[in-house]
Amino acid sequence: MAKNSIKWTKKDLLGLEELSVEEITMILDTAKSFKEVSERAVKKVPALRGKTIAHLFLEPSTRTRISFELAAKRLSADTIGVSGAGSSILKGETLKDTAKNIEAMKVDMIIVRHASSGAPHVLSWFVSAGVLNAGDGAHEHPTQALLDMFTIREKKGKLAGLNVSIIGDIAHSRVARSNIWGLTKLGAHVTVCGPKTLIPVEIERMGCHVTYDLKEAVRTADVINVLRIQLERQKKGLFPTIREYIMKYGITEDVLTKYAKKDILIMHPGPVNRGIEISQEVADGPYSVILEQVTNGVAIRMAVMFLLAQYKAGK
Ligand code: CP
Repeated sequence: MAKNSIKWTKKDLLGLEELSVEEITMILDTAKSFKEVSERAVKKVPALRGKTIAHLFLEPSTRTRISFELAAKRLSADTIGVSGAGSSILKGETLKDTAKNIEAMKVDMIIVRHASSGAPHVLSWFVSAGVLNAGDGAHEHPTQALLDMFTIREKKGKLAGLNVSIIGDIAHSRVARSNIWGLTKLGAHVTVCGPKTLIPVEIERMGCHVTYDLKEAVRTADVINVLRIQLERQKKGLFPTIREYIMKYGITEDVLTKYAKKDILIMHPGPVNRGIEISQEVADGPYSVILEQVTNGVAIRMAVMFLLAQYKAGK
């Protein structure tokens, strides 16, 4: 297990905005130890034996839900899953009441995904269980950014000084926001790129550079993180047609051949819209680490659950 001189002091993991450089580094270092567990024949350690973790997913998810569930099981925790469709939320129960009822059954941690920004923060006020944000509206997706940072550090050997271009639908992206907070804190230079209508006004105030020019974003990048066009969250008319978006901002082999560095790293948090924000060839090509991101996600989620459990044990 990683040896860290600082102690974990937070009940919840709500976002990277509120984490220090030391806390982010501690999660990344702890995940490095846990990655090895998933490579063993017996993929289990007793670190969270006796703990119970509830997965409250009130918005669709494949990667994050499965990854959190696997991470909890590999730490030997007991898990329960609650989905919007199968819960009393459909009968009008509030999120607070749902969470209080889950906690009344002596659950230690609640992993929550919610369509509304701030929902995990509100939940954390009402329950003494640890709350982990698995994605809230367009606000934050901290474990996604942590696994992205872990993957970059693993592949490039560092984060400080690297140029990371995040390309696509920045406006609707919690992944972009968490990546900007985390990467800039650890010394990377972040550029966001997309159509003007998909870049929030004054996003530079988060410490990133903005360009609407794909060539510039690709030329300067050591890492490109391609984001999905979130058609389900968009109002109509943010760009003329999908075809036009592909022509101006699609990451294709041709774009990489013409403008990218030879050792470029291509990332995507998923789900991927193949042939829209990224071509089939690039998604499955030699620079892509998309599936390695997914692998690393389990280690990151093991690390954050392990650290939050330390906080509770130390109370
Ligand atoms: N990256 C991500 O959050 O994927 P899911 O929506 O499938 O969890």
